Amino acid sequence: MRIALNRLWSRVLRRSLARAGSSFNVDFTTRILGAKCVAVGDDFYAGRGFKLVITNQEATDLLVCIGNHVGLNDFVTIAAQDHILIGNNVLIGAGVYLGNISHGRYKGLDQSLPESPPNSRPFASSGVLTIESNVWLGEDVIIPGGVTIGRGAIVGAGSVVTKDIPPYAIAAGNPARVIKKFDPKIGSWERVHSAVPRTQTLGLTEPTVLIPHL
Ligand SMILES: CC(C)(COP(=O)(O)OP(=O)(O)OC[C@H]1O[C@@H](n2cnc3c(N)ncnc32)[C@H](O)[C@@H]1OP(=O)(O)O)[C@@H](O)C(=O)NCCC(=O)NCCS
Repeated sequence: MRIALNRLWSRVLRRSLARAGSSFNVDFTTRILGAKCVAVGDDFYAGRGFKLVITNQEATDLLVCIGNHVGLNDFVTIAAQDHILIGNNVLIGAGVYLGNISHGRYKGLDQSLPESPPNSRPFASSGVLTIESNVWLGEDVIIPGGVTIGRGAIVGAGSVVTKDIPPYAIAAGNPARVIKKFDPKIGSWERVHSAVPRTQTLGLTEPTVLIPHL
């Protein structure tokens, strides 16, 4: 039953897109608002709860462009006030949020006031968000702004990306920092620096440190 529903819904949604390649497979729980501004390449897959929202009501042209062979695990959200470009062979883990929409402005001119209800603040763009080809985003990655994730890069699970990630790098943490880079000369991923600042390393031989009242 679910398989039949998924097939039917995939066909309906595929037709509503500005452009869609061959093999478009989504779960029937997928929601796409603003489909006329979305183009998807060949061999697209999205799991349960995929939500793609074009928040920019004035947009008439393509705003979200997704390449070939892109796979999204469950509960991925894409919210586009501005362009969101995803290359080929991109793998996106469950629970990932990709967006360049902000309720209001908090820098530059015309900043929003804290006493105005967030819901009534005008949508603002945080810039073009680009995920280049061969990128893997681990589970629950959050990319809330206009950044570029370089070709072949990996973003670790649970990371929040606020700055560009160079190609062939592994980034992790909040905010995400580059922890490894691929060295083509030796064909391996090399450490760059400590991933996240550590406050303390707890030894399992000292349970009282973990549970002080023991
Ligand atoms: C990012 C990732 C690929 C790195 O793997 P790795 O290269 O084997 O990493 P290492 O174990 O060598 O860790 C290197 C450092 O990065 C830190 N680190 C690794 N992943 C991290 C993450 N997600 N967030 C924060 N720090 C992380 C490690 O603690 C370690 O720090 P240290 O040297 O200070 O101890 C992996 O940790 C990850 O997050 N994978 C995603 C898993 C996932 O989402 N799977 C779902 C399938 S879509």
